[in-house]
Amino acid sequence: MNQPSIRRNFLKQSVMASAGMLLVNKSIRANTNPPDAFSGATEKAKNVNETIKSIQSLHTTHGNFSSKEISNDEIELIKQSAICAANSSNMQTYSIVVVRDRELMKKLCGYQGSCLMIFCADYTRLVASAESLGLSYYPDNITSFLTASINTSIAAQTATIAARSLGIDSLLTNGIHRGDMERLWQLLHLPEKYCMPLIALVLGYADKEPDHKVGRLTGKGIFHETTYQPLTKDDLTEITQKYDDPSQHLGLNEDWKKAGHDHYLEWLFKEWLNRDLKPTASESQLFIQLKKRGFVDLQGK
Ligand SMILES: Cc1cc2nc3c(=O)[nH]c(=O)nc-3n(C[C@H](O)[C@H](O)[C@H](O)COP(=O)(O)O)c2cc1C
Repeated sequence: MNQPSIRRNFLKQSVMASAGMLLVNKSIRANTNPPDAFSGATEKAKNVNETIKSIQSLHTTHGNFSSKEISNDEIELIKQSAICAANSSNMQTYSIVVVRDRELMKKLCGYQGSCLMIFCADYTRLVASAESLGLSYYPDNITSFLTASINTSIAAQTATIAARSLGIDSLLTNGIHRGDMERLWQLLHLPEKYCMPLIALVLGYADKEPDHKVGRLTGKGIFHETTYQPLTKDDLTEITQKYDDPSQHLGLNEDWKKAGHDHYLEWLFKEWLNRDLKPTASESQLFIQLKKRGFVDLQGK
């Protein structure tokens, strides 16, 4: 993607973001009921414990956090919970930058709340440890990046669940990947190599309770038994209809009909994803950053 189109994208998306996405959807809100996709299983389950309740009450706060602050003790609890997540070889190939300055949060990810946690796939500590022992370690390949990304994402989701269990609202956002990503290195003094910000978690308290919970697609195409089952034409029609059904709350936008689309998914692909329906023709900013940070194979050869 070239620079003007990155900027265009960023501007478009940050206008939507800073307006709490009200421009495209006044109804991206959630309540605390479990989504329909889960409710059948939930009703039958005898062991719905507090953990499951916290997980099933997860929902995103779309940019409308109040000025109420989270205590330092709670932030510490969330941090310590995040690092309980499983991770490969217990190498914890991530770092978490905690930001409390609201203006800085806005610059970094486009949103602000009481606390921002930026989860980075990060080998800096390990490379330095190896060096300190007179050894070398080169996580300079896509396998290392993928492994660190999995570790980092699981830690971020664990933090989100911990926060929810404390009654703290959250927004996971990839707003850090919009606009010129170099700002992250400048503003946070990130290491030049082997560190890539993956996901930002904004924590706080929502200004307003959402009026419905966003649903989830379930069934065919999501779950497969024993072997992968390709979708038939009928399955795809059913999926399209599920997204069109307002009672399922699967969409980001309930105004797609007014915008002249026959289906929600048509709106999603044509408008929200803002693509010209062609394969990617050039290196994206993210790919360029991955190369610069040393995560693409054959860096030194
Ligand atoms: C990788 C990732 C990026 C996201 N980026 C944004 C974002 O920039 N702005 C936003 O309002 N929500 C963002 N979300 C939240 C999703 O929109 C939200 O999870 C989804 O609509 C489902 O809603 P729910 O979390 O309330 O169930 C993001 C979620 C993930 C996992």
